[in-house]
Amino acid sequence: MPVITYIESTKTFFLETAASTYVLRIREDGILEHVYYGAPIGRDDLTHYYAHVNGNSCLIAPQEYGTIGRGDNRSPSIVVRTADGRTVNELRYKEHRLLAGKPRFEGMPQLLAGEKDAATLEVVLEDAVDGYEVSLFYTVFEKENVIARRTEVRNVSQRPLTVLRVASAAVDLYGLEDYEVMSLDGAWIRERHIHTRPVLPGIFMVESRSGISGHEHSPFTALVEHGATEHRGQVYGCVLVYSGDHRMSVEMDAFHSIRMTAGICPDTFSWQLLPGDSFTTPEALLIYSDRGLNGMSQGYHAVCRHYLGKCSQPDLVHPVVINTWESVSFGVNEQNVSQFIRNCEGLDIDIMVMDDGWFGRRNDDRTSLGDWFVNEEKFPRGLQPVIDLCHEYGMQFGIWVEPEMISRVSRLYEQHPDWCIHTPGRIPAEQRTQMVLDLTRPEVVDYVYDVISTLLSTYDIAYVKWDMNRLITDNGTQWLGADRQGEFNHRYILGVYELMERITSAFPQVFFEGCAAGGARFDFGILYYMPQIWTSDNNDAIDRLKIQYGTSMVYPPFAMAAHVGAVPYWATGRTTPFEVRGDVALGCSFGYELNAGHLSAEDRAKINDQIARHHRIEDMIDNGVFYRLLSPFEDDYCAWQLVSQDQSRSFVMVAQRTAQPNPRTRYVRLQGLEPQRRYTLSATGQTFTGATLMHAGLPVPIYQRDYETRTFELIAE
Ligand code: GLA
Repeated sequence: MPVITYIESTKTFFLETAASTYVLRIREDGILEHVYYGAPIGRDDLTHYYAHVNGNSCLIAPQEYGTIGRGDNRSPSIVVRTADGRTVNELRYKEHRLLAGKPRFEGMPQLLAGEKDAATLEVVLEDAVDGYEVSLFYTVFEKENVIARRTEVRNVSQRPLTVLRVASAAVDLYGLEDYEVMSLDGAWIRERHIHTRPVLPGIFMVESRSGISGHEHSPFTALVEHGATEHRGQVYGCVLVYSGDHRMSVEMDAFHSIRMTAGICPDTFSWQLLPGDSFTTPEALLIYSDRGLNGMSQGYHAVCRHYLGKCSQPDLVHPVVINTWESVSFGVNEQNVSQFIRNCEGLDIDIMVMDDGWFGRRNDDRTSLGDWFVNEEKFPRGLQPVIDLCHEYGMQFGIWVEPEMISRVSRLYEQHPDWCIHTPGRIPAEQRTQMVLDLTRPEVVDYVYDVISTLLSTYDIAYVKWDMNRLITDNGTQWLGADRQGEFNHRYILGVYELMERITSAFPQVFFEGCAAGGARFDFGILYYMPQIWTSDNNDAIDRLKIQYGTSMVYPPFAMAAHVGAVPYWATGRTTPFEVRGDVALGCSFGYELNAGHLSAEDRAKINDQIARHHRIEDMIDNGVFYRLLSPFEDDYCAWQLVSQDQSRSFVMVAQRTAQPNPRTRYVRLQGLEPQRRYTLSATGQTFTGATLMHAGLPVPIYQRDYETRTFELIAE
């Protein structure tokens, strides 16, 4: 079945996935009308479907890409200022093209797909008065139910234009009554908590204006039918493949139409287009699910695994790591790290990651960022002895860097004080006593590339944790003209992408993990270059339930790095059992954030068992289907499940946060099994059919303590 069909007689495009239809139509007056998005409806003639809408006297009708100044007073998708300072825009259809596969665009992360995986529609609109064209690209992923959208603006006039706003995607949805809008919000050490609220007249939006996608709001929103659950009900998801400033908005107008828009945050953006120039937005991924929130998430997880850069490598293996940060902090030196390594004797850990503190003159967070050479006082013989020791103990060596930063106290700052982002006449605002390098400048990108490349080619480094620990302030650069300062934040992130592209492709054997003060840049943009991200600086198993549950709304389990930390946990004072910390983490990209030598013999002895369990379910983490079962945002329990592609195996994690007096037994209804097949619970040997486990549920023992977890491994007979 063709996934994109154009019916000439009605000038209608049908974009069809396995479980959704998206319809747009060229109106008689050339306006591109949004006709429908939702469950499959075939290819009806919907020519006059919206003829009655609000009298249709002006542009307050469903549109695919709304403008400003011509009657549509909802949030515009695009605002272009002409040389005479006006912003009256109107886009009419010019032409369209059907393209096999998915055309690549330069300089930004994106889903990559060949002709057998996807098909693309490009609709070209033009503003003939102002002299610019807009291409709307729609790539349809049939199996995953995802439509990837992006927008390109081209100045075809003889005069400069300024783009003040340009959405990656917008959809006008009519007839959706009683919907809620979901967002993932938080802060450092409590990232991506789920929030929903009713869609009411007015605008709801989440944004980032900090130069990164941010702790505060993920670049994601979903419209969720009231009463929808994890497994049932209609959901429209929208996520950006972008790591910079974003705005995700949902607007309900006076007639209850809903406009969902996603793109770069217009508050911190403008872009000058000289004659002949073009600008491309980041990509937005739309999905419609009639299988509730899990249906949405599974579509996102699947496109991430199959088409998103480094995440899509078929032979991707996420190593089990142990990291020095929470136990050794800035105190890393040859002696301490050697002891840390020796403490791992006999443990089946793949990589020892030496975190912050190894370079320049770094003893705390006040110095040396930018000086990516070994601290000779701490490592007088260089890094080779600790690398050799790692190998001797059966591990590879990994390292922490924060390439985008510069400390005032650093050799780099002495040499290039003008390389930090700053505003003339103002002392740059510092956060964590550090400043950010101006990666809009090619020579700064080249420097960082060279210094990190030297490090990675000098030593046998298997793993890099790429951190980014502050926001962008003092936005602007003297290397851009006055009329281009509004381009700074986007140019910064383009510089980051260029750097990541160059470094990760020059060192394909190195495994890269993204990080930004925990999870402040957890997005599909970073995941294109680095197949996992440090989910949060919070390793408290109980807090992690919400963080990982919320993150899984969009991102697959393998993308989330999750480690067992020490107790009592520094951020909460909470003491959870070692097993509980392991159970919560081992369904993700797994590791330890502690010194194995500080553990009791009893806990230490549990490590290899946890790692073995992680390896048993690893294929499901990477290639299986993830289901959220019980939400820690709604229940004292939390449960999730992995199912292998062939439905022959499953892993279930159930957690109870606090003990209840005189509790009821819980039966957790599983998902995704084959109803007739019998599954054995490996711990007890009991067998049940898939139907029993899905409909009657898995009986979960009553716990009489706070902070309890159980995991269940199921194997089909
Ligand atoms: C950030 C990271 C931590 C650790 C420290 C080191 O906070 O999220 O995991 O690497 O930096 O300074």
